[in-house]
Amino acid sequence: MATTEAVGRISEAGEPGELGYRSFRVGEFSFTRDEYFVYLHWPTGRHVASADAFLRALQRDVAWDFFYGIVNFDQVFGTMNHYGTVDVFAGRFNEAYRRAELDHMETLETPAIRAIFTEMLSDWTNEGFDPFASPEETGSAFGPKHGDNDAAVTRRRVLAKRMVSVPGDEELRTDDNGHPVNRMFADVAQDEPELHPEPGFEDRICGFNLFAYLSRSPVTWNPSVVAVCKDSLYCPTTEEYILPIIHGNDRVEWFVQLSDEITWEVEDRDSGAKRAKVIMRAGDVAAMPADIRHQGYSPKRSMLLVWENASPEIPALLRAGKLSNAPVAF
Ligand code: PHB
Ligand code: FE
Repeated sequence: MATTEAVGRISEAGEPGELGYRSFRVGEFSFTRDEYFVYLHWPTGRHVASADAFLRALQRDVAWDFFYGIVNFDQVFGTMNHYGTVDVFAGRFNEAYRRAELDHMETLETPAIRAIFTEMLSDWTNEGFDPFASPEETGSAFGPKHGDNDAAVTRRRVLAKRMVSVPGDEELRTDDNGHPVNRMFADVAQDEPELHPEPGFEDRICGFNLFAYLSRSPVTWNPSVVAVCKDSLYCPTTEEYILPIIHGNDRVEWFVQLSDEITWEVEDRDSGAKRAKVIMRAGDVAAMPADIRHQGYSPKRSMLLVWENASPEIPALLRAGKLSNAPVAF
């Protein structure tokens, strides 16, 4: 594999080309776009991706600050998070590219790659295209550069400080004010639970209707932390169409399908070899092992609870063989 070791090396942006889009460099990678496509070049190879799919993946990589483990934009290009540095790779987790020695990787300090990806996302997103929205609820990503959608691409991920509905987190509670129920969740009941706390506990016993809360989410495939207990994070999300990344996790991850149906394509994390197809219907619970990558397909907008163990110790424990890749031995 060709690789450059220099952490924090050059990443830079060029002048706009004739279609109005700027080009970008990350070490020996170059990134350009035209009306329909994004082009990547590196010393041993080249790659082309549809601009809409690339921007949906880039949006998540930026908003999630490189997420847990590996964010594959597709079968070739992606990033691997080392929580301080980030590997930017092509073909690194693709058996054929590896065998042909066409893969390439650059390692950058997180702030350097964050800055260039943020600029690329802003420059390449046209007015009217929202990479977080479902395809039915947004305009086109294509054409020569026209305007921007910085309001959408810089939206902050909702982070709960306490459980939603507990005093102190009022600002995160969703109401009708600018948060309409999504067209696909018109049948979701909006009533809130009845609470009967003992006298003196009125401000400590709290509850809310999670289905009603999620029914108003305007974005897709964007888990938000709703409850925290030490390293345990409950991250529900609403899903429609295709998860824009193929996620190669660095830990076990649990899914609870809260409504409707998602099909998960599960592959070996390192080679991309097919491992399983998991069809999850409302009420189903699955644990994704720590050595796979996955991508979900949701034909109708659905609600999913992603349960993460955010402990920073887990990747090293897995590498040392002190934790199993499977969360349960049956
Ligand atoms: C995942 O990679 O596990 C994931 C990411 C975003 C979602 C759901 C699942 O919305
Ligand atoms: Fe995942």
